[in-house]
Amino acid sequence: MTSQIIPVDPFDFIIFGGTGDLSERKLLPSLYHRQRDHQFSEPTRIIGTSRSKMSDDEFRAFARKAIEQHVAPEYIDKAELDEFLARISYVAADAVSGEGFEELKAAIGDSTRIRAFYLAVAPSLFGDISRNLKAYDLITPASRIVLEKPLGRDLDSARELNDLVGRNFRESQIFRIDHYLGKETVQNLMALRFANALYEPLWNSAHIDHVQITVAETVGLEDRVTYYDKAGALRDMVQNHLLQLLCLVAMEAPSSMDADAVRDEKLKVLRALKRINGNEAPRHTVRGQYRAGASAGGPVKGYIEELGKDSGTETFVAIRAEIENWRWANVPFYLRTGKRLATRVSEIVIEFKPIPHSIFGDGAGPIFANQLVIRLQPDEGVKQFIMIKDPGPGGMRLRQIPLDMSFAQSFKGRAPDAYERLIMDVVRGNQTLFMRRDEVEAAWSWIDPIQQAWEGSRQDVQGYTAGTWGPSASIALIERDGRTWHEST
Ligand code: BG6
Repeated sequence: MTSQIIPVDPFDFIIFGGTGDLSERKLLPSLYHRQRDHQFSEPTRIIGTSRSKMSDDEFRAFARKAIEQHVAPEYIDKAELDEFLARISYVAADAVSGEGFEELKAAIGDSTRIRAFYLAVAPSLFGDISRNLKAYDLITPASRIVLEKPLGRDLDSARELNDLVGRNFRESQIFRIDHYLGKETVQNLMALRFANALYEPLWNSAHIDHVQITVAETVGLEDRVTYYDKAGALRDMVQNHLLQLLCLVAMEAPSSMDADAVRDEKLKVLRALKRINGNEAPRHTVRGQYRAGASAGGPVKGYIEELGKDSGTETFVAIRAEIENWRWANVPFYLRTGKRLATRVSEIVIEFKPIPHSIFGDGAGPIFANQLVIRLQPDEGVKQFIMIKDPGPGGMRLRQIPLDMSFAQSFKGRAPDAYERLIMDVVRGNQTLFMRRDEVEAAWSWIDPIQQAWEGSRQDVQGYTAGTWGPSASIALIERDGRTWHEST
C-alpha cells in the first residue's frame, strides 16, 4: 500500500499487562512497525508494567522476542529494532494494592507529554487501575486510557465498568478498542459509501433487498478456554465486531469524520435495531457449537473435547436483524459468525433488488440480482456482481460477472495491522474509530434480550461439524425468506 506517514507528537505509552499475550502479539509488534516507518517524534517512550518483577533488560528481551516472532523477517531492521528497544523500560506494579505506582510515577516523570495508559488486562482490573492512576496523580490533561474488550458481559456490567473508569477519566480520554474498526477495509467501507456518489442514492430499502455480514473463522478455542466458555460467540463477536460493521453499513452520512459526528450516527442505528425477545429468538437466531470434524487441513476435536468439560456455550451465531427506520424498513440484515467454519472469511454482501421485468426470453438464462461484496479479509477487495451478455454468437445469453477490485493487487506493500492505526489514533487523540460509552451500552441493550431468551428457554445449541458452514438451521434462517447465504470461498 502506498502510505503517507504523518509523525505524531512525542508520547509515553504505558502498557498494563505488558508481559501478556496482547502486548506480545499485537502491541509491541505494532509499535515497532510505527518506529520502523519513522512515525515517532522524540522523546517517545514505552513502559511495560505488570505484577511480575522484571528488569528493564528482561522486558526488552521479551519485547525483542515478541517482535522476532510476530513481525515478518523482511521488516526486521536491526538498527530500528535497537532504537525501538532503547525506548523501552519496565516497572512492576500491582493494580489492586497500588504497590509499584510510586515507581511508575517516578519512571514517567512529570512531563506534559501525551500519556497513553493501555489496559491489556482483565476488565476486572479496569476500575482498580484507573483509581490508582488517579490516586497517584498520574492522570494529566494529556492522558488517555485505552480499554480492551470484553467491555462487560451484559448491560449492567458494562455500565459498572464505564462508571468505574468514568470516575477518573473524562469520556474524551477513554478509548474503547474494537480492533475491527482499525482494519483498512473496514475504514474503506466508509470511503466506499461516502467518497462515491454512485451508491448513496441506491443505499436504502427501495433498492436493497437485504444485507449479509459474515465473519467466519477456522480457528477453535485457541488458548482462551476460560474467557471464551464464559462469553460465547454472541458476546465475543456479535456485540462488538458484527454490530460495528452493521452500523457502518447502515448509518446515515455523518456531517464529517469528527468522532462524535460518526458515533452519533452509529448510535442511532444501534437504537433502531428491533429487539428480539423471548418468543422471537427461536425464529430469528441460531446458536451452534462445533463437533469434531476437519478444519484447516486436518482433523480437529469438537468444542467439548477441546474444553474438557460439558458446555452449552455457542461457538456459532446467526441472526436475522431488522433496523426500524425509514432507510431500512423491511431490509433484513443477516449476521453470522463462528469458529471452526469452512473457511476464514469476513465479508459484507449488499444484495440489490431484482430487476422489475425481464425483456429477455427464457433462453437468456436466469438474471441474478446485483450484489456488492465487500471482502474485509483475507484477499481484501470489493466485487460488484453485474449481469452481462455472454460474449460471442449464440443469441442473447446472460451471465453474471464480478467487477473486481482487489486491494492487494491495486496497492502494493504491507497492509498495516489494525492496532497500528488505532494506537496512533490514541496518541493523536482521535476517537473516531473507538466506541463511545453510549454505543457500547446500546449494543448490550440489543444483545441482552437474545442472551436472556437463550438462557430462559434453553434454546438448543445445535451441533455442527467442524469445517462446515454451521448448523443447518442457519441455512433455514435465510432460506425461509427465499434467500441464500452468499457462497464465500
Ligand atoms: C476477537 C475475538 O475480538 O476477534 C476472537 O475475541 C476472534 O475470538 C478475533 O478470533 C477475530 O479477529 P480477526 O482480526 O482475526 O478477524
